[in-house]
Amino acid sequence: MRVLSGMRPTGKLHLGHYFGVIKNWVRLQEEHETLYMIADWHALTTGYKKVDEIPQNVEEMLIDWLTLGIDPKKSVIFQQSKIKEHAELFLIFSMITPKSWLEWNPTYKDTKYNLLKIADLSLMFKGGIRDNLKTFIAKLPYKIEDFESLEEMLLDNVSDALIQALFEGYLDKEMLKELNVSKRDFYDTDTYGFLGYPVLQAVDILIYKAQAVPVGEDQLPHIELAREIARRFNNLYGETFPEPQAMLTETPRLPGTDGRKMSKSYNNAIYFADTKEELQRKVMGFFTDPQKLRKGDPGRPELCPVFFYHKIFTTWEKVEEIEEDCKRGKLGCVDCKREMLKNLELFLEPLREKRQEYAKDRALLRDIIKEGSEKAKSIASKTMEEVREKIRVG
Ligand code: TRP
Repeated sequence: MRVLSGMRPTGKLHLGHYFGVIKNWVRLQEEHETLYMIADWHALTTGYKKVDEIPQNVEEMLIDWLTLGIDPKKSVIFQQSKIKEHAELFLIFSMITPKSWLEWNPTYKDTKYNLLKIADLSLMFKGGIRDNLKTFIAKLPYKIEDFESLEEMLLDNVSDALIQALFEGYLDKEMLKELNVSKRDFYDTDTYGFLGYPVLQAVDILIYKAQAVPVGEDQLPHIELAREIARRFNNLYGETFPEPQAMLTETPRLPGTDGRKMSKSYNNAIYFADTKEELQRKVMGFFTDPQKLRKGDPGRPELCPVFFYHKIFTTWEKVEEIEEDCKRGKLGCVDCKREMLKNLELFLEPLREKRQEYAKDRALLRDIIKEGSEKAKSIASKTMEEVREKIRVG
């Protein structure tokens, strides 16, 4: 079976990426024909204002893939933008994809919803400012003809300025998090390209006629859309693309140092590129059961992020012991973290060394991408010959 997946180059990978995605990719290499793509064109959809970061992010991600066991001898590792055929098929798919399919896409709807939330926020600000503004206007030394519309105009400007300040980071970040909106959601993604994101993803899959796509649950609507586009193309022009299946794996959400889902944007991630010292600092700073304040207090391992890590990295017997001792207040959090650090370090240390080797060998990285992209291109260009013939253009 031909399996394809991709990842946007956002830079260094963290433990969450490994347990959520990469570990599964590595396993699939053994049983299937696998293609793994660095989705650098997709990085533009949200990052078109910060393009200088992209090349380095591509490189960092590739280094981590190799370090974690994605093997160029077993998989085709390639970079999306090296295969210009993606852009051509994207154009063609854009012609046949109904707009409504895209507008219903949850990722896009969420963004729209966030825009609404921002409108709410603006109302909230206005509510708070209104009274002060009234006093202010009343004190103006000249006669106001149209009190109401002046007030409206001032309110609009003030709240715009406040929202601007919020998104520029001058206002409380916590508030932003709570509302689950970001500057990105507001300004940067209200584009044609963002709406078309899943069409490009459908291209990535269909141009290789991949049958299976290992992805996280959040990507299911995108895979469904790829299936729909395949069906539509096949109906219009004759059987061309197989309908790809999503391959879901159960992956427990790895908590970050603060107990929330590990994520770059939460600033709670442990990276494969972290030094031993950084790792130590992060582990010792882990959140634990907030009710366990000192060593003698009984803890609740089931909700402690440190214990979650013990379950992955510590031997089974020791995990049982830790669980018992924590519950009985015999084990303090500092000792518990030290033990976890030791075991996590056993896992990370060899990877850190491997990573350094790859990071040093630029020529090797370049060759891997070049070779993989050539292989990918030969498949994609064959598909495009077929497509051009069928659509009578090109
Ligand atoms: N959209 C995917 C993500 O954000 C990345 C991606 C791009 C992808 N093209 C793909 C995944 C093709 C699978 C297949 O995770």
